[in-house]
Amino acid sequence: MIGSTVVRVAPAKLNLTLAVVGRRPDGYHALHSVMVPLGLADRLSLAPAGGHEDTLHVDGFPTGAGPDDLVLRALAEARRAVGAGWAGPAGPPPALAARLEKRIPVAAGLGGGSSDAVAALDGALEAWGAELSIHERLRIAARLGSDVPFFLAGGPALVEGRGETVTPLRGVIGEPPGVLVVTPPVAVPTPAVFGAYAAGTRPAGGAARTSSVHLADELRSGLDARALVDRAGILAVANDLIPAAAAIVPELVGLRRALRRLLGRPVGQSGSGPTLWVLYPSVSEAEAAAKTVRAAVADGSLPVPGAGQPFIAATTIQPTIHTRSE
Ligand code: C5P
Repeated sequence: MIGSTVVRVAPAKLNLTLAVVGRRPDGYHALHSVMVPLGLADRLSLAPAGGHEDTLHVDGFPTGAGPDDLVLRALAEARRAVGAGWAGPAGPPPALAARLEKRIPVAAGLGGGSSDAVAALDGALEAWGAELSIHERLRIAARLGSDVPFFLAGGPALVEGRGETVTPLRGVIGEPPGVLVVTPPVAVPTPAVFGAYAAGTRPAGGAARTSSVHLADELRSGLDARALVDRAGILAVANDLIPAAAAIVPELVGLRRALRRLLGRPVGQSGSGPTLWVLYPSVSEAEAAAKTVRAAVADGSLPVPGAGQPFIAATTIQPTIHTRSE
């Protein structure tokens, strides 16, 4: 055993675009989505443990069973894949005690659980001093969930197929754009959203696909941060799952409209929701917007659906995924 604790940063993701481009024989939807990592991130530490079973302790947002499972499932997959090829002492790679500091809201469309899974997979390999090829890591990631392979890209990427085809993009050049994220405390389960889409709740016309292809082309060679923010109006509607998410939680329509009115900027949706996003040229402008939204929630002028408080945070689009905490 290598012995020391490994700490990994697990960033959230934002879908700048999300086009559904077909239905696959396996029942999943074929996607064309430009995804970027955010500064908002969970932290996962993995320490050698004495017992035979991996354990997980979560601080911050409670995760429920699903995402918990994803960290433990990733550790189990990593152990199985390392298996006989492990250069350590006889027997399987030792058990790990995982501690997850959950700062990304759960089931929000921000990919937190998927990011934690990659942090667990790569962190376990580091803790054991083991290696797997990128193909093997991608295969494991795709098994763990559709959003998981993106987090192996190391930065902005075009995501296609069910989520397993990931093409890194050069991304945004210049001062990282600020992002306001607002996550209302409502449940918008991804299978239900895709189910509503499959049942016909979808936009007509294929505009999201056109915008997504165009943005991916621009980010391939690198797009000036200002130019990205200038495209917010187009990107805010380039998500084919917006009507389907609104079919599950109709109040999302009103919240988007109210945020647009309050902030005077386009409001997009990340993934299958319910997180809404607003782009700014800088993080300080996103912070000012977060203050405005918090005040409007507090004085009752911005009604937010759901029970409890919404998650409101200012963050940035990251040029690369920094997996180590400095
Ligand atoms: O792969 P994951 O478990 O994250 O997907 C959750 C659900 O979302 C799937 O069961 C499926 O219903 C839907 N989905 C889909 N097409 C995708 C990704 C997810 O239909 N590309």
